[in-house]
Amino acid sequence: MHSKDQICYEDYQQTADWLLSQTQHRPKVAIICGSGLGLLADALKCQDSFKYADIPGFPQSTVQGHAGRLVFGELKGKTCVCMQGRFHMYEGHSLCKVTFPIRVFKLLGVETVIVTNAAGSLNDTYHCGDIMVIKDHINFPGLAGLNPLNGPNEEKFGPRFPAMSGIYDKHLRRLAFDICKSMGYAQFVQEGVYCMVGGPNFESIAEARLLHKLGVDAVGMSTAPEVLVAGHCGMRVFGLSLITNKVVKCYDDTEAVNHESVLEVGKMRSETLQTLVTELVGRMDIN
Ligand code: 6GU
Repeated sequence: MHSKDQICYEDYQQTADWLLSQTQHRPKVAIICGSGLGLLADALKCQDSFKYADIPGFPQSTVQGHAGRLVFGELKGKTCVCMQGRFHMYEGHSLCKVTFPIRVFKLLGVETVIVTNAAGSLNDTYHCGDIMVIKDHINFPGLAGLNPLNGPNEEKFGPRFPAMSGIYDKHLRRLAFDICKSMGYAQFVQEGVYCMVGGPNFESIAEARLLHKLGVDAVGMSTAPEVLVAGHCGMRVFGLSLITNKVVKCYDDTEAVNHESVLEVGKMRSETLQTLVTELVGRMDIN
């Protein structure tokens, strides 16, 4: 199921051309909304929106809490395209499908990708509802050979062996912290390392302890594939994790995580996250 199903340059091009023929918007920024964080898309002005099912070549989303729409519009006068719902590996999508929209965005003219996700924290100083600016990631499926860049390299997008050092743009991270300070968000905004695991199960206690030992601050089931495909084709990346729960890493702990509580915390802080992303886009050096 995770093998490379043949997607070629022309497939991305066809989808991009179709979208360009359906909207006048020419986005410079793409925003991927994670679980329960889709409200961000509703804030766009002068919207053109497309259900994934109606976009030629687009994969279909199956997760509860993910709307499955691509929304074009303006945020603080900057043209953006927003994914309301993303594709996950655990849905059975190949990683080429998971990252299909990223290359389409590149062909639309997007230069900056903002990724958001819901994540569990392993860092004992974090609290539920904290927002973590992603400093770096550990791509567990990637380390094990599950990589969207597997197969023949598409030179039109980027190099065979792309570097991943400095993938999360330092300038944008600094800008985010400046914004957080001035908005009074500083006490619940963190910076840390995100780890992608395959899911769909949450971690066992032994797995959680392993990740903790490795220095992981937050764990989730997405983001790394999109980020590395965006980096491969030279786009600037910024990422935020909303901490929706603390990962159970003690055998005496009786409380287990569930998807509903993840969505609940998403709703609680979604407005704050929306404000942060809006301010960040507003102050970006583009257009
Ligand atoms: Cl605790 N684990 C994983 N893998 N993903 C999550 C999560 C935990 N909480 C939200 N997303």
